[in-house]
This record gives sequence, structure tokens and C-alpha cells, in this order.
Amino acid sequence: MSAAATAIRLGVNVDHAATLRNARGGRRPDPVEVALAAARGGADRITAHLREDRRHIQDADIARLKEKTGLPLNFEMAPTDEMLAFACAHKPKSAMMVPEKREELTTEGGLDVAGHEERLAFCAGKLRDSGIEVSFFIDPDEAQTESASRAGADSVEFHTGPLCAAEGKAREKEIALLRKCAARAHQMGLEVHAGHGLDFETARLAASLPHLRELNIGHFLIGAALIFGMEEAVRRMRRAIASGAEAGAAR
Ligand code: PXP
Repeated sequence: MSAAATAIRLGVNVDHAATLRNARGGRRPDPVEVALAAARGGADRITAHLREDRRHIQDADIARLKEKTGLPLNFEMAPTDEMLAFACAHKPKSAMMVPEKREELTTEGGLDVAGHEERLAFCAGKLRDSGIEVSFFIDPDEAQTESASRAGADSVEFHTGPLCAAEGKAREKEIALLRKCAARAHQMGLEVHAGHGLDFETARLAASLPHLRELNIGHFLIGAALIFGMEEAVRRMRRAIASGAEAGAAR
């Protein structure tokens, strides 16, 4: 695998293993076992979102994911006092702040960092004081990127949902916007991450972005695991990412 391909980390989001478990209220599938299979397939990080309503990941899952998988934990959280205290107590490798609405099926849009810069800078400061890397999930937008840098983020994760939903010319427009914002983030000293809604094809596209260091992928991989098994699904995703990174490096 080329240096460009191996420079991109894959964070596997195991939230929907917990969704399936919670549908029956028992212990299986266990998101920790799913994370271990993802690790065998080549995942670099495990991502889990502890929502205010605890609809999938539960408090105890976070401690177990951190202890038992051997992979760095990326804790996805709303910038609330409750989640801030939880993150500082559990000390994941990184915390990715996202907007959260109770009624949404999944995270719908990026965080409005520019509109809440003071609050987010406060949260970032608390997390960094606890030794946690700070990331903001934002739409590909230059003003939000600049605001994330001022608020003290180490990285930004660009929302790839619109890219995944677009086709043809609209998709080209989305990728051009992501490229421009990735370059701006890198210029401002931010690590560039991307995620949301990615499948094999769109992950390949996202992996071709300049300066990209991490992709976070969940729902599609949990679905693909029903067909290929988790280990193989992650292995196939790694191959898609490697091929996208090589295409990006050749550009
Ligand atoms: N990144 C963020 C910030 C998310 O909220 C999610 C979904 O929880 C993901 C990445 C992964 O998205 P998906 O499950 O659609 O792959």
C-alpha cells in the first residue's frame, strides 16, 4: 500500500451494532465484539456517539470500548455540560463535537462553530486540559473552518452527507467544495477528517481529498457486515480508501 493510502486512518462507528442490540434489549450484538472484528479487518479507531437519549450507545459501552478494543476511542458528543463531564472523566483519545437534535434519525448537519465560537472554545479548552484531542464536525464551509481553528480544534471532520446524496454535476460541485475546504483547513494547521453516509464508492472519492487523514464510517459498514462479516467489510473499505488515496496522490 502506498504512503498516501496508509496515511488515512479509518474510524469505524459502532453505534448501529448497539441499535440492533437495543432492539431486543439484550447483550447481543455486543458493540465491543463488533469493534474487535473491525480492528481485525484494519480499523484504526473506534467511534461511538453517546447521545443524550441513549438510543444506541450506553454509558457502559464507552468504558468497555476504551478498555477492551486496544484501539483509540473517538467519542462523538454534543457540546453539553453532561457530555463534557463524561468525556473528561473517561478520557477518550479524541472527542468529536456534533450538533444533536432529539428528533433526528442521525446527525443532520455540521456544527455551527461560527455561531457558538465562545461556547465551543470553552468545551475545547476543557477537553484539551484532560488530554483529549478535539475535533468539530462541520459542513464544508471556509468560515466554519476558520472558526474551528480559532476555537482550538485539532481537527475538523467535514460532513460528506451532501456529497453522498448528490449525483452527476452536483456531486462534482460537492467534491470541489470539500477540496477547497480541506486545503483551507490544512493551511490553518487543522488535521482533515471526513465522514457521514459513506459507502465503498463515496469513501473512495472522499479518500482522494487533499490532506485527508481520517474517515469515520458506520452505518454502511454495519449493513455490509450482514453480508460479508464485519472483518471483511472493513477490509473491503480499506481497499476502497487505498484506491481513492492513490487516485488523489496521482492528481
Ligand atoms: N461522523 C459523524 C460526525 C457522525 O455523526 C456519523 C454518524 O454517527 C458518522 C461520521 C458516521 O456516519 P455513517 O454512520 O453514515 O457512516
